[in-house]
Amino acid sequence: MANPNTVLGANPHPQQHENDPRWESVDEYSFSHLHPAGSVHPSNEVLTHALNSSKKEGLPNIAVSPSQGKYLMLQARMLRAERILEVGTLGGYSTIWLANAWKGVKVTTIEINPHHQSVAQTNLSHAGVSEKVESLLGPGVEVLSKLVEEVKAGKRGKYDMVFIDADKVNNWNYVNLALDMTRPGALIIVDNVVRRGMLADAEAAKTNSNVEGSRRVVENIGKDPRLEGIVIQLVGGKNYDGFLVATVNIEE
Ligand code: DHB
Ligand code: MG
Repeated sequence: MANPNTVLGANPHPQQHENDPRWESVDEYSFSHLHPAGSVHPSNEVLTHALNSSKKEGLPNIAVSPSQGKYLMLQARMLRAERILEVGTLGGYSTIWLANAWKGVKVTTIEINPHHQSVAQTNLSHAGVSEKVESLLGPGVEVLSKLVEEVKAGKRGKYDMVFIDADKVNNWNYVNLALDMTRPGALIIVDNVVRRGMLADAEAAKTNSNVEGSRRVVENIGKDPRLEGIVIQLVGGKNYDGFLVATVNIEE
């Protein structure tokens, strides 16, 4: 296998881009204290069940980390988000976190893969949040376009928060469609934009469509008067990556 550091180009500290054992240790230490046994929203049993059943069913091990999941939940709680849109359900791990934000929350989650959707539905049911989650099957762009029509027709309310964690080439398309159905002040989070630092590597973007998709969403949000955003770099059990965090502007 090619050394992934060579992909990064002029990197003066090659090993520092790879998993550092301290990152996972800090994740484990802090999460064990901040979400200890006895936590109920959601319980560690529910979270572990979702990850174990996803693994058993052959889903890729690419869900958000526990701390990242809880961060999403706390953001949703702070917003008192009533409607959350998620693109990329996978096994429903992040969906479980979002659905536990508070009693008034409903999550619409979109998944392209029927097997993933079915595993997620079982996990959501085990987590006791099926009633709070609407699980839709299909390609993100198609399903989102349908949702936009429903919001425009007044058949569904505008979203307060959007979490995008699907195919990276469509990152901007998802944000752009979400803008037609989010309220002013809504929060949009896009996962995996940093990718071990490749975000800043214009050369990598020429051959890696995921990097290109992440750069496009960063650049387009920067140019778009409807949005304000930043990238938060993250390390931990999921290596070195990051969230793009943006808000839909409030008209003054
Ligand atoms: C990977 C991780 C993700 O969170 C994701 O959404 C897609 C891919 C990965 O590690 O490959
Ligand atoms: Mg992801």
